[in-house]
Amino acid sequence: MSEQKLKVLVIGSGGREHAIVKSCLKSPIVGEVVAAPGNGGVAADARCLPLDVTDVDATVKLALSEKIDFAIVGPEVPLCLGVTDALQAEGITVYGPNKAGAQLEGSKVFTKDFLNKYSIPTALSHTFRSGQESEAVQALSQYSYPVVIKASGLAAGKGVIIAQTQEEATAAIKDMLSGEMFGDSGSEILIEEFLDGEEASITIMVSGDQYVYLPAAQDHKRIGEKDSGPNTGGMGAYSPAAVVTDEIQKQVVTRVIEPTLNGLIAEGIDFRGTLFIGIMIVDGVAKVLEFNVRFGDPETQVLLPQLETDPISIMLDCAKGTLNAESVVVKPGYAMVVVVAAKGYPDAYPKGELIEFPADVPENVSIIHAGTKLTNEKTIVSNGGRVLGVTAFGKTLKEASVDAYKICDTIKWDSKYYRRDIGYRQLNREQ
Ligand code: AMP
Ligand code: GLY
Repeated sequence: MSEQKLKVLVIGSGGREHAIVKSCLKSPIVGEVVAAPGNGGVAADARCLPLDVTDVDATVKLALSEKIDFAIVGPEVPLCLGVTDALQAEGITVYGPNKAGAQLEGSKVFTKDFLNKYSIPTALSHTFRSGQESEAVQALSQYSYPVVIKASGLAAGKGVIIAQTQEEATAAIKDMLSGEMFGDSGSEILIEEFLDGEEASITIMVSGDQYVYLPAAQDHKRIGEKDSGPNTGGMGAYSPAAVVTDEIQKQVVTRVIEPTLNGLIAEGIDFRGTLFIGIMIVDGVAKVLEFNVRFGDPETQVLLPQLETDPISIMLDCAKGTLNAESVVVKPGYAMVVVVAAKGYPDAYPKGELIEFPADVPENVSIIHAGTKLTNEKTIVSNGGRVLGVTAFGKTLKEASVDAYKICDTIKWDSKYYRRDIGYRQLNREQ
């Protein structure tokens, strides 16, 4: 660890990045934090600079002109575009994998080939490219329904269609391969067996062959209570998730994490950043649904508060190759985040509505901003579908839930909407 405190750049504008900025403010190694572009809540905690995060050159220029020591990349798009490689080329230390490593999220076909090559458990699948519509439709006869059709490239979390019938599957294949649905991201697709089980998010912070295993989390992807209605970016999460038992964790470590990190090294990929592993537990077996190469959103909001060790120091050690995973300490307890969204999300929803916040928020609770904007009058207005995330930490999951919901209830704006049942599976089991 350097004596001199670091000037840190946090790239991104969501709840995940606000949570990272908050960790920076508490970190003993951070002297100053700059966020780009940030959001209304981040602006209250850090200096925000405008940035199009898909513009790698502009990101490098900003980092150089700000004399940034350490950049933390939140979202996947800049990672897949090679922002890490570009920043590193200028001598800037970066948390977040290089372009080669980011393929684990940027290409589902790359990942499926990787998983199969290293015998890592995953759903059975077939790959097709544009021009192979009829072969793809024919292959459907080998699957039962529902069947999963996936665009290989990045599609802002929308590239997965769970088709209930052959007609739906055929339409999805055609729409994706023609480029109509996801442009180039759909020029390669996977047809995949549907896995019926319980989903969990495993997050590790990686530095080559070293890693820190963070507590497992469970997200709630559907907009409605009891997991009903359309998929969203995530409506709330809690951690540790008991569905990842010690036995499942052992399996994930030996059958997924170890072969993945060894496989990356064998492929010549020096991975330094977050590896988020979406798993489905089917009859006691953990299978990989997807890899992401960045922290989950909203999972980050429940993972960082559980770390006794300074998360920014862990990120820096991952980036520099000085990680000592054994020294990382996780606090006992439970964290929950409830996402407070704008009514209408994930379809059309209003923006620009004034948000009123409670005067006092207890120390174990924090209000993380995702889709908000600071106005010229210094008020905060809604500016996205997922607007806020209320995170609480407690001795039990019940305590965390009660404290998070108390604050959700006191936040006010016209189109406020949130699920009231985050953590219901585990809470029901505990009763
Ligand atoms: P992915 O982007 O691959 O994680 O897919 C997004 C979501 O689709 C996952 O979080 C799962 O809920 C669901 N999903 C993806 N693949 C499968 C599958 N093979 N079986 C069942 N659900 C899936
Ligand atoms: N919460 C799921 C994700 O970040 O991809």
